[in-house]
Amino acid sequence: MKTETLHPSFGILVTAENGEHFSDISTEEIQALFNEHRTILFRGFKTDISSFKEFTRLFTGEFSDYKGGGSRWKMIDRKSVGNDKTVMTTTGANQSFEIPLHGEMYYMDTPPEHIWFYADVAPTEGGQTTICDGITLFDQLEEDVKTFFLENQIQYQRFLSDGVWQDTFLTEDAAEAIAFLASKKNIAKYDSKDKSFKVTYNCKPLVKHPITGKHAFINNILYIYMAEWAFTSGWIKGHLNDNTTQSPIIVRLGDGSKIPYSIIESVMKTAAKITYNIDWQQGDLAMIDNTSVLHGRRETVDGVPRNILVRMGDPIHKNTETASI
Ligand SMILES: [Fe+2]
Repeated sequence: MKTETLHPSFGILVTAENGEHFSDISTEEIQALFNEHRTILFRGFKTDISSFKEFTRLFTGEFSDYKGGGSRWKMIDRKSVGNDKTVMTTTGANQSFEIPLHGEMYYMDTPPEHIWFYADVAPTEGGQTTICDGITLFDQLEEDVKTFFLENQIQYQRFLSDGVWQDTFLTEDAAEAIAFLASKKNIAKYDSKDKSFKVTYNCKPLVKHPITGKHAFINNILYIYMAEWAFTSGWIKGHLNDNTTQSPIIVRLGDGSKIPYSIIESVMKTAAKITYNIDWQQGDLAMIDNTSVLHGRRETVDGVPRNILVRMGDPIHKNTETASI
């Protein structure tokens, strides 16, 4: 196999040589590359959905079935592939909008440490997956923005109506959902009259990266901030033909006040300078460190087929706890 740098601050491209298969490469070598570069894009290997599942199992022990996931909302919901709940389509697989950079499932405690993507059908145009190093991002933020995130807690608030929470928590039993939320340090308020949930989760917006010990800006702030805007501005109504004006998830500061737009704008500007586009090729596979690397998606092009599959979970040998700082 051949290796080359993906982006100056993180990531490595591993290309197959002479018809190599995944079974020909050393798991230890790949693990060492991943620990050092935090993102690996595998290209040119003979892949299909079953080799994707087999290969990911060598590194990730327990796969998430997306229980508690925040993108269960109507038409943007993920779908399972085949009969395996841990192999999913990407969020909003059939919508063309751009998805801002985010860490996966940071609105609950202990988000998965690994996220994997597989290009089952690579788009010939648009729809690149974006990735951005949260460690470099924090490092390059304006000083006052850095201070803001070091000093403030954030709060995710979720509103789950009857019918939605059952799909989200994969249960019909409200008590079971409450117990699951408690295990993820989420505070649940269940309204037995209309059978809805309001859920809050306070946490720090930064993560202390388990290997480097550095601050990483990784969370769901940008995605959820823009999602709320999409609902309240009428964008959802205009583009997705839905009359809902309340976003099912919002993000605030720890005291419930709004995050200033100037802060969001500043993070987006800094992130834009260091974001890398994965221009998918058929059969590509990406292994991403969800404790330090954000991902998102460029707008897709109508009529251009795209099927990127996703899996997420914790390392097979989880030796360091991901600590919120
Ligand atoms: Fe995601």
